[in-house]
Amino acid sequence: MAQNRSGGTGGSRSSIDSKLERMADALEEGEALLEILHDDEVFERELEEIFAKSWVYIGHESEIPEEGDYRQRSIGKDPFIFVRDENGEVQVLWDSCRHRGTKLCRAEKGNTTHFRCPYHGWTYRNTGELVGVPQKGNGFPDLDMEEKGLHGAPNVESYNGLVFASLDPDAPDLETYLGPSAWYLDLYFKLADMEVIGDPHRWEIDTDWKTPSENFYGDNYHVPMGHKSAIDVGIGSATAKGEKESELYAISDVGGHAFSIYQIPGEDFFWGHPPEVTETFHPERLTDEQYQIARQSGVSLGTIFPNLSFIYLGGSDDPEKDTVGTFCLRQWQPIEPGKMEAWNWIMAPKDAPQEYKDRVYEVGVGTFSLSGNFEVDDIGIWDGIPEAADSVFAEQVNATTVFSMGRGEDTLAEVDDSWPGPGTVYREGGMTDENQLEFYRKWHQTISEAH
Ligand code: FES
Ligand SMILES: [Fe+2]
Repeated sequence: MAQNRSGGTGGSRSSIDSKLERMADALEEGEALLEILHDDEVFERELEEIFAKSWVYIGHESEIPEEGDYRQRSIGKDPFIFVRDENGEVQVLWDSCRHRGTKLCRAEKGNTTHFRCPYHGWTYRNTGELVGVPQKGNGFPDLDMEEKGLHGAPNVESYNGLVFASLDPDAPDLETYLGPSAWYLDLYFKLADMEVIGDPHRWEIDTDWKTPSENFYGDNYHVPMGHKSAIDVGIGSATAKGEKESELYAISDVGGHAFSIYQIPGEDFFWGHPPEVTETFHPERLTDEQYQIARQSGVSLGTIFPNLSFIYLGGSDDPEKDTVGTFCLRQWQPIEPGKMEAWNWIMAPKDAPQEYKDRVYEVGVGTFSLSGNFEVDDIGIWDGIPEAADSVFAEQVNATTVFSMGRGEDTLAEVDDSWPGPGTVYREGGMTDENQLEFYRKWHQTISEAH
């Protein structure tokens, strides 16, 4: 069925406004528009209206424990330096020299008191303050050094060690942005002090950043098919292998973010952590309801809009070895239409024994990282989407992607009113697309807001 191309001109493809209108119509039907997964205009608009307006993840405080520690980071495609300054404060500085604009930071990480520009040598303290201009007296006697410090992100806040920044001076505070999803983040980041192990792994994927972000909102439907080989050979979690009675809950309506949580009734499972690790936890930091859910938690995953996801896997990379609780925090970085870079940080409770943390790292690498069994499954599937999305024919047939699973009377998924946490919660969470729809509703609302 051909659609009207009200925004288009001649034979060219339709405008972004027409796409957003058709996307709104699709969402009403529990669907989304395929074209938005490979589109130049949509991509540009996302950088301006989503990445430059949302709270975007920068890094974990444990990555820069010492004064002077820094890491290169980005917000959308904009380069930033994540640094702990000489006063111990976390800064998120735009990586662009105030003189001619080049990037100051040429190493991914390091420790420094100052950043010296490689072009003409302007030098900045790690607070961002400009303190050195070669030949200043002879060349720039009137230069206002104070005014020419590095620009910092207008808003920077930490939530239990997770540092986010927003480039929107009018952004709500981080707590407001996270909304009720903070209740769930507490399970992972408050019950234990978490730390990043090693460096983040990064790899490019020929797919749009929205696809993995939406997948980690809770596409549990793909697991038996997409990850069949890994599950068949026994790699993965106790819950995924079906060794334990468990129930999957899909949680949406928590500020536009979403979670999927396996519960193993009556068990002290704690994502697969053994007692020597769980005894380092801080139950007093959680409510009884939160603690109860943490206690019974098997595989858990989720996404904070737009592009921060995680998976907590009680798993193993070797069926012969014990499972450990492995936390993989991931960020889906936009590179260009139809192309992104994945960042993956493996994390463990800070107070766990070092030997255990080493094992967590091994399992993380073997499951959810570039060489991980589960990761390669997904990459090899996701890269087929933008190719089709870029088709001329996609518009001709108004191609949509379907998120209507769980709608209607006789589906397995049903709202669980007895769930003690916030949000709309579905039992049989693998049988509903409500979480993924939440992603696209939030996307559509955010990208349309200013227009
Ligand atoms: S561009 Fe940085 S000193 Fe000239
Ligand atoms: Fe997957």
